[in-house]
Amino acid sequence: MLTTNYFTFCVFCCLLYILLFVPISYPAGVPVWKCDHSLNRSLCLLFAQDMALLIVVLMCVVCVVSGRDQCPRNCYCGELGPHGVICTGGITDIPKNVPADTVYLVVEYTNISVIPTGVFNNLHKLTGLLLDGNQLTSIESGAFDGLTNMSLLSLSSNPGLSLTKVDPSILKDIKNLTSFLAKENKLGIIPTNFFAENKMLREVYLKSAGLTKLQTASFSNLKNLVIVDVSKNEIDNIGANIFTGSLKIQTLNLSNSQIKSIEPRAFETQEEMRFLMLDHNMLVSVRSALLGLRNLLTLALNDNEIVSLNKDDFKELVMLNSLDLSNNELQNTGDALANLQSLGSLTLNNNRLTKLSFKGMPLLTDISVSNNLLQSIPERLDVITHARILDISNNPIQSLPGGQFASLKSLLKLDISNISAIQDGGLAPDALTGLHSLVELRVERNELSKVPSLALSAVKQIEILSLSHNKIQTLDENDFVSVSNISNLQLANNMLAKVPEKALRPFTNLTQLDLSGNPLVHISGWSFGNSTTLSSLRLSNAKLSVIDPAAFHGLKGVHSIDVTNNNLTWLPGDLLKYDRAFPFYLYADQGNPWYCDCQMKPFSQAVNVPGQSVITNIHCSGPEKFKGQNLGDIPLANLTCDCEHQEAPSVDTSGSDNKTTVGHTAKLKCKVSGCPTAHLFWTTPRGFVISPHLTKYTGYDVQDDGTLVIMAAVAEDAGNYTCTAANYLGKAEQSHKLKLDIIET
Ligand SMILES: *[C@@H]1O[C@H](CO)[C@@H](O)[C@H](O)[C@H]1NC(C)=O
Ligand SMILES: *[C@@H]1O[C@H](CO)[C@@H](O)[C@H](O)[C@H]1NC(C)=O
Ligand SMILES: *[C@@H]1O[C@H](CO)[C@@H](O)[C@H](O)[C@H]1NC(C)=O
Ligand SMILES: *[C@@H]1O[C@H](CO)[C@@H](O)[C@H](O)[C@H]1NC(C)=O
Ligand SMILES: *[C@@H]1O[C@H](CO)[C@@H](O)[C@H](O)[C@H]1NC(C)=O
Ligand SMILES: *[C@@H]1O[C@H](CO)[C@@H](O)[C@H](O)[C@H]1NC(C)=O
Ligand SMILES: *[C@@H]1O[C@H](CO)[C@@H](O)[C@H](O)[C@H]1NC(C)=O
Ligand SMILES: *[C@@H]1O[C@H](CO)[C@@H](O)[C@H](O)[C@H]1NC(C)=O
Ligand SMILES: *[C@@H]1O[C@H](CO)[C@@H](O)[C@H](O)[C@H]1NC(C)=O
Ligand SMILES: *[C@@H]1O[C@H](CO)[C@@H](O)[C@H](O)[C@H]1NC(C)=O
Ligand SMILES: *[C@@H]1O[C@H](CO)[C@@H](O)[C@H](O)[C@H]1NC(C)=O
Ligand SMILES: *[C@@H]1O[C@H](CO)[C@@H](O)[C@H](O)[C@H]1NC(C)=O
Repeated sequence: MLTTNYFTFCVFCCLLYILLFVPISYPAGVPVWKCDHSLNRSLCLLFAQDMALLIVVLMCVVCVVSGRDQCPRNCYCGELGPHGVICTGGITDIPKNVPADTVYLVVEYTNISVIPTGVFNNLHKLTGLLLDGNQLTSIESGAFDGLTNMSLLSLSSNPGLSLTKVDPSILKDIKNLTSFLAKENKLGIIPTNFFAENKMLREVYLKSAGLTKLQTASFSNLKNLVIVDVSKNEIDNIGANIFTGSLKIQTLNLSNSQIKSIEPRAFETQEEMRFLMLDHNMLVSVRSALLGLRNLLTLALNDNEIVSLNKDDFKELVMLNSLDLSNNELQNTGDALANLQSLGSLTLNNNRLTKLSFKGMPLLTDISVSNNLLQSIPERLDVITHARILDISNNPIQSLPGGQFASLKSLLKLDISNISAIQDGGLAPDALTGLHSLVELRVERNELSKVPSLALSAVKQIEILSLSHNKIQTLDENDFVSVSNISNLQLANNMLAKVPEKALRPFTNLTQLDLSGNPLVHISGWSFGNSTTLSSLRLSNAKLSVIDPAAFHGLKGVHSIDVTNNNLTWLPGDLLKYDRAFPFYLYADQGNPWYCDCQMKPFSQAVNVPGQSVITNIHCSGPEKFKGQNLGDIPLANLTCDCEHQEAPSVDTSGSDNKTTVGHTAKLKCKVSGCPTAHLFWTTPRGFVISPHLTKYTGYDVQDDGTLVIMAAVAEDAGNYTCTAANYLGKAEQSHKLKLDIIET
């Protein structure tokens, strides 16, 4: 490859020779050099012409060859700017003839294993040298000599390179070194005084560098050092004099480094430090280790083994804004937090705290104490009047008296999932009073059997409500009237057997509804009423087996419907026949036993109608000949059933038990005829909807032949039972009344 300069030079030479030696292009009268005084002018001209041609050809060859030489083999010149050279490939030596004006040299992913002495010493202009991803095992003394103006050196990803064997004064000539990178290596150590001459050093990146310890004075007296990343190493102790005299360090990342101990006052002189990452280590305590960090803003101590804190542990961290102590073994906070007047964000998840107080932390905004052993709501909530997020979920909090949160006027998000107090009795009517700014409320995993609608009326303005993982069986028309501005309602993993259409009516702006994990079995026509604002609907893991043709009609603004992981074998064609504003995604493929026969024909046909903007992707589980095929690839004519004659199902419940006694069994028969085979399900007087082998209700089962078995009847089991069966041609149902004798024992 030619460098730009050389190419220009070649063109210039060629033109010059043409001008001087090609007289034939001049009119006869014009005097031409050399041949003017010759005896035989035309002979001379002929000779000159041939010579010129030869010389031009030779020049061009020489130019091209020497121009090529200008950029070493396996290198590319000019691609990293005019003075940048990048070399890569199977070479085993640093290229010798790198252009002397090179400013940036990258030699990466080669087979080079040694950097010899003085190999770069003609490259006076070099400012950046990147030697990443090679096979370096040794760097000879003086290898970097002469690189006085260089500011960036990178030796990353040379897994065979150890600094234990390298001359510790290897960097001595690189007086202007500002960035040193050696990530993903097995360096072993940074020799003492390794950077002693690099007074301009600003940043050192040694992530995953295979360091087994930090030697005393490894990083000392570097007055310009600002960032040190030594994360992901195997350093078990931080000694006292590692950073002595390096007074401008702002970011020190010691995360993921197997640190067990830090000498007292190890960071004492680090007045400029802002960010200290000590997370994912093996610290048991931080006693006296953090003294002196007067300007520290962020301290990560999460994922250690800290068992206890002392009153003075954070004493001098007067500017601290963010503290993460999650995933430790704290049983109490030892009053250590009361000194943190500037603290804004406090994370204490996954400890063993039995109590907590916010005393002394008036600026707290984000608080998370999930998964502890708190017996009561944290104390001094009155102090944290600026709080925006409070997560106290997963704690055995024993009581939640009304008005507890009344001082949290700025709170935007409250998580009180899985709290013993709620499990024992629901949410008290005045539990949420005073939360005038609340936007998001999470009350998951609390065994709620109904929506705490009285309590909700204190937070009329909320937009996100999660009641997932409770035991809500039915929803009432009035459940959500006071919180009609909700846009995101999460009711996943409850015991809802029916889409709660009436309860959804009050919403004016419902955009996301999650009903996944409920035992829905069947979605009937217009189940969602006219929820025109609904954009995302989740019905996955809902034991669905029958979706009626008009199930989603009314959802005019829907963008996505998720029916994955159900028991669906077919979908009705009319599902898509209604006006919508947008195309929508139907997530259906995963986890359903789609059976591509005549029942799927109307749906397949509807999906293929141009302008029918449904985006879906269904693969067949059966019949055998279509297994694994995309429904859309099967010609409509091949979607057939072998019925002698197709018909809608009919249902017969005769032979069912007419009565039973409390505590005893009852069997209700349901014989379904019709072809293709219909799906059936039972609806019980208690509102349960049960399909074969898919019950969430213990003590109730539907057998293969459609028989509903009630193992031990209770009084509420008396009443009308309906067996419903549906195939793509229609639906049939029959009711049967079961009486219960209550016998005193
Ligand atoms: C470079 O190293 C690789 C892997 O170690 C090897 O496969 C390849 O043959 C070497 N190439 C040369 C030119 O030595
Ligand atoms: C280093 O840079 C300075 C200023 O840019 C220049 O005067 C000096 O010649 C350079 N040194 C070398 C060895 O190129
Ligand atoms: C030293 O490096 C810095 C950038 O890292 C650069 O701005 C400065 O010009 C360099 N000094 C010399 C003398 O090359
Ligand atoms: C610290 O290092 C860890 C692990 O390498 C990394 O994930 C994290 O982003 C780093 N943090 C900072 C603030 O540099
Ligand atoms: C509920 O919180 C308790 C602690 O009170 C915890 O042990 C349990 O794992 C939590 N349950 C769930 C489902 O998260
Ligand atoms: C519901 O939202 C509307 C429009 O944003 C707003 O005017 C109204 O005050 C909100 N209602 C409540 C109870 O916050
Ligand atoms: C409706 O909900 C969306 C969020 O889904 C929100 O951005 C929008 O402001 C809400 N509109 C009204 C009028 O409340
Ligand atoms: C939906 O709206 C239509 C008119 O747009 C109305 O006829 C129908 O009764 C409504 N359905 C429900 C369930 O509210
Ligand atoms: C569809 O049926 C025709 C006629 O029976 C047959 O030739 C063809 O291979 C079938 N196509 C597929 C994709 O099974
Ligand atoms: C239930 O009662 C009907 C008549 O009401 C009867 O025909 C049927 O045999 C009875 N079923 C059983 C299991 O006794
Ligand atoms: C799914 O539905 C079919 C037909 O109703 C039934 O035979 C089957 O047992 C159901 N359950 C599962 C897990 O497929
Ligand atoms: C059960 O069905 C019968 C007739 O089908 C009806 O008269 C009766 O009111 C129903 N009972 C209940 C509790 O719905």
